[in-house]
Amino acid sequence: MTSYAEFHRRSLEDRDAFWAEQAQLVDWKTQATQICDYSKPPFVNWFVGGSTNLCHNAVDRHLKDRADQAALIFVSTETHQERVYSFRELHAEVQRMAAVLIELGVKKSDRVLIYMPMIAEAAFAMLACARMGAIHSVVFGGFASGSLASRIEDASPKVIISADAGSRGGKVVAYKPLLDEAIRLSSHKPDSVLLVDRGLATMNWVAGRDKLWEPLRQKHLDTVVPCEWLDASHPSYTLYTSGTTGKPKGVQRDTGGYAVALAASMKHIYCGNAGETYFATSDIGWVVGHSYIIYGPLIAGMATIMYEGLPIRPNGGIWWSLVEKYKVTVMFSAPTAIRVLKKQDPVLLKKYDLSSLRALFLAGEPLDQPTAQWISEGLGRPIVDNYWQTETGWPILAISKGVDDAPTKFGSPGKAVYGYDVKLIDENTGAELKGANQKGVVAIEGPLPPGCLQTVWGDNDRFVSTYWNTIPGRMIYSTFDWGIRDEDGYYFILGRTDDVINVAGHRLGTREIEESIAGHPNVAEVAVVGVADQLKGQVAMAFAVVKDTRLLTDEAAKLKLEGEIMKRVDGDLGALARPARVRFVTVLPKTRSGKCLRRAIQAVCEGRDPGDLTTMEDPAALQQIKDLVAG
Ligand code: PRX
Repeated sequence: MTSYAEFHRRSLEDRDAFWAEQAQLVDWKTQATQICDYSKPPFVNWFVGGSTNLCHNAVDRHLKDRADQAALIFVSTETHQERVYSFRELHAEVQRMAAVLIELGVKKSDRVLIYMPMIAEAAFAMLACARMGAIHSVVFGGFASGSLASRIEDASPKVIISADAGSRGGKVVAYKPLLDEAIRLSSHKPDSVLLVDRGLATMNWVAGRDKLWEPLRQKHLDTVVPCEWLDASHPSYTLYTSGTTGKPKGVQRDTGGYAVALAASMKHIYCGNAGETYFATSDIGWVVGHSYIIYGPLIAGMATIMYEGLPIRPNGGIWWSLVEKYKVTVMFSAPTAIRVLKKQDPVLLKKYDLSSLRALFLAGEPLDQPTAQWISEGLGRPIVDNYWQTETGWPILAISKGVDDAPTKFGSPGKAVYGYDVKLIDENTGAELKGANQKGVVAIEGPLPPGCLQTVWGDNDRFVSTYWNTIPGRMIYSTFDWGIRDEDGYYFILGRTDDVINVAGHRLGTREIEESIAGHPNVAEVAVVGVADQLKGQVAMAFAVVKDTRLLTDEAAKLKLEGEIMKRVDGDLGALARPARVRFVTVLPKTRSGKCLRRAIQAVCEGRDPGDLTTMEDPAALQQIKDLVAG
């Protein structure tokens, strides 16, 4: 093994040769004539002149050697279904879905919005879009009408694919009414809505617009839809994520760079081999689901498990039973899920034969020591923390196990991954912090490596102004995370620099939650902050200024209003964004220039020193919050 430092150095200093080599991990229709075009920073085009297709790489190319091998393993502990699709069967289903989309008028570069539970048809839909060069935009099934509407508005999909319902913990969650309401709220209307009927909920039918999947599928059982060869820079998908401003950003990904980045990460970081089984416990609505439930494992020729259900139903051993049954070699989850499992009977970890498993990767939020230790001892396998973002699509920080035998360090997701020129930047001066153990903003010097976001959908200016800072002659991408690097090059992530919070591994913008709450007729103003929580990492806490102050002395009225506000957030954004508490105050702590002191509120809620408050307008405002938190 050449040293990892050398591998990483080569990826930056001999960049084009390095990525030309990685590009051989995927099939191309035509080879690139230029590996990296960074003539218009911060925009970068990877594999210029190359053409390829994600679906070809994930499905078709495996037919030669592994047509009858498992490709997609769908398991639902909600509906008690379990079905294994071989690569041959997956190939057929994806073509049926593509044929139906074509019948509905979808063409290359059209958008298709996918609002679906974790069912096999969602995977067919994503791959069918990739096959024909349609740009998919998956919206997490836990989002409600308001969130969905803003995404429909921004993506302007020709077709929306959905289902009658999902199910969570045995409770049916009807999707169709949420979708109908979202379409009503959006000024953009899709031509068609394609619906998978699982028989879980009745659907109100909109004649002309709504189409049922199964009868259309039956029409196309044998229709052949060849892969469309796409320019490497053709967008493969958009995925919306939260930032500081209320409006979610459509992270836009390319085709060729993404295929190469995923294939390389499967080899160098996750170490998954063709013929094995990969199990990522995330959801297709999140970036982990895109990269490591669908595309990454399939590109690598692995079977991938798609699991609908809770980690503790029918009991906390369910995931481990799947590891045993399907001989999972690589598993990927989030610290929150492990904290949930930690509360279950530890015997459940010992009940199954987990000998196939080589490593458990965890990402999405900070990994705390008790959780890391518990799962590492329980499994007797390496636990590998890795740090990345929706924007990057694959790890920025990790121990790249395939090329690095360095140990992991507790509390650190590891070192800069090959391809990433990671820096720490002084928040105030913008200068690079070169020494060890200095706190700065984790940043990446452009160009971003293959697979990362190309731009924000439909808004190049927003892409540049949101993420990029200029140090004379250089462009630096901000992750919006604080970090520290030690003497050995290991990074430690210390939380977000912006108004994004991380609830149970779900990334949420507090401003979006504030907007929803501020829509209540009795709310004049509101501040939402993330507060540390033992189980979920963080929870949202809201402090609202009420218009009718008589309410402040009426406990029953306060409870009622709190309930109304929570219901409002559920309806707008989804229950995942619901604040743990909504407290009422007469005024919010602000600076004299009127800026809400969210960091001070957060500190008070977490029992920390709120720091320098000399710019605060009215100290009594923070005192109100202190009293509420103490009481
Ligand atoms: O704050 C960081 C945190 O999650 C953010 C990105 O969330 P999302 O876009 O949903 O992508 C998740 C992809 C795994 C980051 O800006 N985060 C992610 N991974 C870690 C983390 N914080 C600490 N440790 C991690 N391993």
